[in-house]
Amino acid sequence: MKKYFLFGNWKMHKTIKETLEYADCLKGYVEYNEKFEIGVFPPFTALESFAKTVRSMPITVGAQNMHYEEKGAFTGEISPLMLKEIGVKYVLIGHSERRHIFKEDNGLINKKVLSAINHELVPVLCIGETLEERKSNKTESVIKEQIEQGLNGVNSNNFIIAYEPVWAIGTGVNATPEQAREVHKFIRELLFHKFGESSNDISILYGGSIKVDNFGSLAEVENIDGGLVGGASLDCSTFIELYEIL
Ligand code: G3P
Repeated sequence: MKKYFLFGNWKMHKTIKETLEYADCLKGYVEYNEKFEIGVFPPFTALESFAKTVRSMPITVGAQNMHYEEKGAFTGEISPLMLKEIGVKYVLIGHSERRHIFKEDNGLINKKVLSAINHELVPVLCIGETLEERKSNKTESVIKEQIEQGLNGVNSNNFIIAYEPVWAIGTGVNATPEQAREVHKFIRELLFHKFGESSNDISILYGGSIKVDNFGSLAEVENIDGGLVGGASLDCSTFIELYEIL
């Protein structure tokens, strides 16, 4: 069954104290629903505290990145085993900031996707074109390459795609429902081509300047199965409002 998600990616925000206050604020607002899921992606230092606090709540926990190896001489990295141990379910792979600031390429991203699946974490593969690529009509070729290379060797449909146009991330300029509709349809076709009927269960989220006043019109677009929210997820009551819109 396809699910609809609201995910909050906090990026490099919030101390443990702030994280616990946020978890407290979510209490009582979110009820279990088999079709809709709310998940939070705190920074590594706050992951365990958050995971412990929401364990009895219908809230899932994700990490913002991981290494593909289980252990080794990789200073500064976190492994899939470490994430599993503290109750993490999802992991963002290939977020735009990892691709552009930390120079992660599709080959590395693919290793991370495969490793996440092997360790029974659900990868949220983030893809999206830059403004320059959109202006030069390369959106589809970029998306195709990111999907094909990122999912190379993947046989399971237990992953999520997040389409986040780079030009919409943190800019206040979201994709219009029409722009998002075109790309999400294209992604759905690519997934169908690779996974056949079982691709219908794969959720495709939109991300990029989601706000309370634009989320309704994006969430109702066909093939948009929820949102990956940055800035607007940092305030707990705004995040709850977004969940109610979903
Ligand atoms: O992963 C979420 C993201 O990159 C979008 O950020 O701040 O534009 O909602 P924002």
